[in-house]
Amino acid sequence: MFNNHKHLIDIAEYSDSEIMRILETARLFSEVNQRRIKKVPTLKGMTIVNMFNEPSTRTRSSFELAEKRLSADSLNFGGSSTSTVKGESLIDTVETLNAYKIDMIIVRDKHAGAPHIVTQHSPAAVVDAGDGKHMHPTQALLDLYTIWEHKKSFEGLKVGVVGDIAHSRVCGSLIPALKIMGAEVTVVAPQTLLPAVPSVLGADHVSLSLDDVLPELDVMYMLRIQNERLEGAPFPNINEYHRLFGLTRDRERLMKPDAIVCHPGPINRGAELDSYMADHPERSVILEQVYAGICVRMAVLYLLLGGADNGLAS
Ligand code: CP
Repeated sequence: MFNNHKHLIDIAEYSDSEIMRILETARLFSEVNQRRIKKVPTLKGMTIVNMFNEPSTRTRSSFELAEKRLSADSLNFGGSSTSTVKGESLIDTVETLNAYKIDMIIVRDKHAGAPHIVTQHSPAAVVDAGDGKHMHPTQALLDLYTIWEHKKSFEGLKVGVVGDIAHSRVCGSLIPALKIMGAEVTVVAPQTLLPAVPSVLGADHVSLSLDDVLPELDVMYMLRIQNERLEGAPFPNINEYHRLFGLTRDRERLMKPDAIVCHPGPINRGAELDSYMADHPERSVILEQVYAGICVRMAVLYLLLGGADNGLAS
């Protein structure tokens, strides 16, 4: 437990001070991750299942590394290699895993709400690693960590979240998290990639034009076009989208001199970003976000599984 939290699914259930405690703990683990021996015994004897029923590179690999660096036992499980292909239900699968006396389940699933269902059928702690178009709380935390390292404070920080708002689970956690921490959020998208009621996300402003808002923003958070979730051709073609909403070498001249560029990955180069901006040595913090993923996930596992009761056990 971390304060009264057993699970991490909806970031909106966490207060600003609790989120800050996660970020500060992640910073401690960043020091561990820069040692030659990047391992502490804090979660020795704990068993964590990584149940990934949908593809993942960053989230899956960083959870697994975080578990190993905290000395927990990891079980990697999910997708087409499991008995779900024979028709076994999510609930029966979870009840099977429960029989092993596991301590935590990390859930990535294409169905929104799957992590919540797991909490109802397992005594283990549950962390949402991305569910459908719904939420992705550890992504939001690693994004906050990266922004905090660069901007030092969230209060009044102007963050633009640009692109495929309607299909993005990143938005479902990132926008509430930024608001909890005091940032000012502008969502930018063509009308067809906005939810029917944009205010439901809690953003302060909605813009249909990137060029109108770009000069004011401190952080450009470029979302991936969710090709696998698009329906009904929401824009004529990728070139058109890139011309109007892509962050490009030409558009850079409109940006504040110290504005940074974030992206959750994987990048569609030539759609939401050109390679010049994706790889920009001063502005792009995308690989820093990847690094933050392991530090933040170590912090989340450590706090939820009671590692704080034992200290860092370094
Ligand atoms: N950002 C993110 O969730 O990436 P993966 O799908 O590779 O885990």
